Amino acid sequence: MAASFKLAGLLIWLMLARGYLAAAESHDLAIIPQPRQVDWMGAGWQLGPDAVLVARRAAQPTADWLAQHLRPATGYDFPVTAKPARENTAQIALTLDPGLDQVGQEGYELTVQTNGIRLRAPTPAGLFYACQTLLQLLPSEIFATNRVTNVAWQVPGVRITDWPRFKWRGLMLDVSRHFYPPNEVERVLDEMALHKLNTFHWHLTDDQGWRIEIKKYPRLTQVGAWRDDIGFGLPTNASTAYGADGRYGGYYTQSAIKEVVQYAAARHITVVPEIEMPGHATAALVAYPQYGCSGQTYAIQMKGGVFHGIYDPAKEETYRFLEDILTEVFVLFPGQYVHIGGDEVRKETWHQAADCQALMQREGLKSEAELQAWFTRRMETFVRSHGKTLIGWTEIAEGGMPKEAAIMDWIGGGREAAAAGRDVVMSPTKYCYLDHYQNTNHAAEPKAIGGYLPLAQVYQFDPVPADLEPAAAAHILGGQGNLWTEYVPNLGQVEYMFWPRAAALAEVTWSARTGRDFTDFQRRWGSHVHRLDLAGIRHHD
Ligand code: ACM
Repeated sequence: MAASFKLAGLLIWLMLARGYLAAAESHDLAIIPQPRQVDWMGAGWQLGPDAVLVARRAAQPTADWLAQHLRPATGYDFPVTAKPARENTAQIALTLDPGLDQVGQEGYELTVQTNGIRLRAPTPAGLFYACQTLLQLLPSEIFATNRVTNVAWQVPGVRITDWPRFKWRGLMLDVSRHFYPPNEVERVLDEMALHKLNTFHWHLTDDQGWRIEIKKYPRLTQVGAWRDDIGFGLPTNASTAYGADGRYGGYYTQSAIKEVVQYAAARHITVVPEIEMPGHATAALVAYPQYGCSGQTYAIQMKGGVFHGIYDPAKEETYRFLEDILTEVFVLFPGQYVHIGGDEVRKETWHQAADCQALMQREGLKSEAELQAWFTRRMETFVRSHGKTLIGWTEIAEGGMPKEAAIMDWIGGGREAAAAGRDVVMSPTKYCYLDHYQNTNHAAEPKAIGGYLPLAQVYQFDPVPADLEPAAAAHILGGQGNLWTEYVPNLGQVEYMFWPRAAALAEVTWSARTGRDFTDFQRRWGSHVHRLDLAGIRHHD
């Protein structure tokens, strides 16, 4: 007996030494997005009721956030302290270490030790991502919103060194076609943070609703934020976004926007506002028709096709109007980028407008596409003079590349823009359009706009176009999933369209290209889905 025990012990020791058990154990981790490097350290650590969080100065807000997320399920106190009472107190130590610069601006190192866990990062963003990883190392019950008593809060003995591949890891939410109140937008931000996504593109204006309060032009929201009914053939009760008078809609006050932007910043998410111009402007033009071409009338409507209102670029007052709006936008959004849309401009109106044709003659513009480029250049100069960077959809480059703008590629142009030295965010319809169906059997799904984008296809996305020169590839800032919401009238359905596809996009934009493995992603999603269920986040299978 004794001899065979010894033999078994020796065998286990040998396996450990050779890393077999390590491989098996680390394989069981289910972190999304997949971290760069996981080293197996041996014994893990169990979170107990006496554990404290240790953080000084700039690390403290992150420690507070972590404590808030550890408390509900464990029921433990998790006091946050700058210095533990005793040297050997069980602790989660969060340390900002600018010297750890090999992991970049958003990377971190997480080490499970015998008396606790050490999280280190050069920036608060990195430390925050270390916390997100820690939550995913714990049993999934840590995501429960009420106390769970029958779980050992065991953390496997690992050291993780991790950093993102791209700096733009985005999701876009269209709040024009349907309106989601600020607390629902904040929920989306939490869900993004859980997946280390860092850029929220807020599509605030479109033909069917203007959603941002602009003090100088109150009619934008008094008139432009409301329509007669929910539209798109949807049942009235698919949404709760109705005003006191029964009209469908809503908008964000400037103070609500400030709160959302702060909420995002606390989760290391930058909010990129989109103010559509010169097209997709019906809601604005219903309120202020004088900035459209003469003779046009406007009405927000969802039946009988989409009506695209378009500003008149030949009127000086149009620029004053748009610049006044952007001036208020610049103050609300501290991020570098301001998105001006620019997609799907119905240029027939310009073709028929005498003042537009005269402007084209005067400026030597050969097509309405060149007129749009002329308009965009003017707006770009204005945006740049305020220290911001303009970004717009593919079409802003069609009549000539704007000077220092960034391009958001949805129907091409990204490769050429990057080759020409412009910064590019890739969000091609083929991989990134989260409004498309997730199933070929449409009867099994909530109604969607069309298309088919299964999880496996999202996972195949690579933001860097094939064969791009390294110098040009450096201009690919990252990737982004877009959710247009014509058929997405409430938060539950937003979540259903996002998850797990946006989790795949998170992995595409965060994790290393090499080693990406869809089968393994599916295995990890099989665990991750329990976290979402416990947190009450809706999802597709
Ligand atoms: C777009 O999908 N129209 C950018």
